[in-house]
Amino acid sequence: MATPTLEKTGSAAQASPYITVTFRVRRFNPEVSAEATWQDFQVEIDPKERVLDGLHKIKWDLDGSLTFRRSCAHGICGSDAMRINGKNRLACKTLIKDINPEKPITVEPIKGLTVLKDLVVDMEPFFQAYRDVMPFLITKGNEPTRERLQSAEDRERFDDTTKCILCAACTSSCPVFWNDGQYFGPAAIVNAHRFIFDSRDEAGEQRLEILNDKDGVWRCRTTFNCTDACPRGIEVTKAIQEVKRALITRRF
Ligand code: SF4
Ligand code: FES
Repeated sequence: MATPTLEKTGSAAQASPYITVTFRVRRFNPEVSAEATWQDFQVEIDPKERVLDGLHKIKWDLDGSLTFRRSCAHGICGSDAMRINGKNRLACKTLIKDINPEKPITVEPIKGLTVLKDLVVDMEPFFQAYRDVMPFLITKGNEPTRERLQSAEDRERFDDTTKCILCAACTSSCPVFWNDGQYFGPAAIVNAHRFIFDSRDEAGEQRLEILNDKDGVWRCRTTFNCTDACPRGIEVTKAIQEVKRALITRRF
């Protein structure tokens, strides 16, 4: 780690928390070249800041053409999933001090989806798989005049999978998805799970049949990459296993 510099505040000398960190960013601009390249940026940053802060410093102070998605900056919107030091993470939840700033920090787009520019990928195939599992409550009959009641135990059944923020960190860390983008992928299955195991929903069988497809749940090879990648701590592989079991037993 670079030696912290000394700064004067009033008459007292104080140690600055700032260090110089190298960000090694994968750049791609189809209007300039068909090849992606690495570019290094030296950034003065407090190690308690996040990778997203470093990317902002690059964009705002060094190179305005750097392109990436982010919105909430607080781990809620799911828009800034990227490969940081070879692992899928949210840039807004990754502290510089937690990823060894003594070495260059590599930042790349997530894998398995077409790169449009720099760190931005085409999310449409990901969201198409999400739409395909019908991620909304389906019930028969008239609209209820009162809320649909559910016991605490029944609500607990799918609590974990309600936490998904659709960041794609799981799906884009899956080797099956890398090799064949037709696979629904972990995130779509997580969001199907959220409704299949909801006692108020009446389309569980339909969703199971959708995932019984050749590109469905059976493609999962239980590598646990998805569970490791999930910034919300969702037990993604477990949810996939539960959907597989429901397909075999038809009990959910
Ligand atoms: S399951 Fe986790 S990693 Fe996958 S899309 Fe949802 S929040 Fe992101
Ligand atoms: S910017 Fe919204 S989750 Fe990171």
